[in-house]
Amino acid sequence: MKLAVPKETKLKENRVALTPDVVKDLVKKGFEVLVENGAGMNSFFSDEAYTAAGAQLCDSNKVYADADVVLKVNAPQPAEIAKMKKEAILISFLWAATNPEMVSACEKAGISAFSMDAVPRISRAQKMDALSSQANLAGYKAVLMAADTIGKILPMMTTAAGTIRPCKVVIFGAGVAGLQAIATAKRLGAVVEVTDIRPETKEQVESLGGKFIVVKSDASIKIEGGYVKGVSEEFLKMQQELVAKHVKEADVVITTALIPGKKAPLLVTDDMVKSMRFGSVIVDMAVEQGGNVVGSELNKTVQKHGATIIGEGNIPSLLPMNASDLYAKNIQTLLLHLADKDKFKWEMEEEITKGSLIVFKGDAVHPSVKKAQTA
Ligand code: NAI
Repeated sequence: MKLAVPKETKLKENRVALTPDVVKDLVKKGFEVLVENGAGMNSFFSDEAYTAAGAQLCDSNKVYADADVVLKVNAPQPAEIAKMKKEAILISFLWAATNPEMVSACEKAGISAFSMDAVPRISRAQKMDALSSQANLAGYKAVLMAADTIGKILPMMTTAAGTIRPCKVVIFGAGVAGLQAIATAKRLGAVVEVTDIRPETKEQVESLGGKFIVVKSDASIKIEGGYVKGVSEEFLKMQQELVAKHVKEADVVITTALIPGKKAPLLVTDDMVKSMRFGSVIVDMAVEQGGNVVGSELNKTVQKHGATIIGEGNIPSLLPMNASDLYAKNIQTLLLHLADKDKFKWEMEEEITKGSLIVFKGDAVHPSVKKAQTA
């Protein structure tokens, strides 16, 4: 089969779906690989490196029109999907439940589409888990962005002129991004406090040297399959009151709290921002999902009540070499699970296939998409 890697066209996207190393491996396994000219440039992978790995370079039309399988980071535009061959296959982050035009374009083009964000979070799919690989890097980078913005150092430092106290970092959400943020802030010498509402996170936070802020849970917290599926407004209010005094004393706040398929919970109110020290820094990692912080703005850094609020929407793209490297391995593993060099297996009842298949030969089949279409 002919695999194809277009250049990402989304604003501020530096990643690429396959790296030269992964191309080399796939070529060795018998696939043909087409790479659009310049596709890897923003990740610092040159056209020459792809050619040396065995890929053929091509233009933006050919990359869609000639492909049996298109591999991407972000969902293509409907006009790009329309160029694909009937029965070709797309694998990418698709966020299909909130992207109906893209789903209709796939249906119209008669293609099949698998979404990286829909791969089930089960043990045997860990190597395909792009949500985790990217969130992990983002958690690291968020701490560095805060450290680079705040006019202070993070660790304690004893000098002849006096002792500098360590920064206090408060992290909301101890999922994949939050745990990496804790580890990074600790490595930089900060004092770290963390809040999450999944009970199992307390031990994970403490094992990384963070201090867990205990918020008493209530019956409104719905947890399914390890994810928070919902909380009441009353609970969030109670949580805000409890966490407020920790935020007031924080130099840095990093928020990572998400509820899959829903708007991110609001955790840091305007009053909480106001209570913070002049010069403190907040990184709202949930900004693309509506934000955890009142006043954060997507892809902007804003000043509010003397605090700087960073609303970078695509943090993994700021580490494109590692992010592309891990993403390429994730997508390669999924591809080799679904297909060999000649064809897709279409094991429709197999959990990973079933979980990640959004459109099958022109028909939307994923329950989340069907639900969105009938809503
Ligand atoms: P996520 O990105 O959906 O959420 C981030 C964090 O925000 C979670 O820890 C969540 O509990 C927290 N959160 C939600 N509402 C909150 C609130 N009001 N206050 C404070 N925190 C709040 O989660 P992520 O990072 O994608 O994954 C978390 C879950 O998925 C965990 O159970 C993890 O163990 C599981 N997982 C399993 C994998 C596997 O088995 N292959 C791989 C990756 C994650």
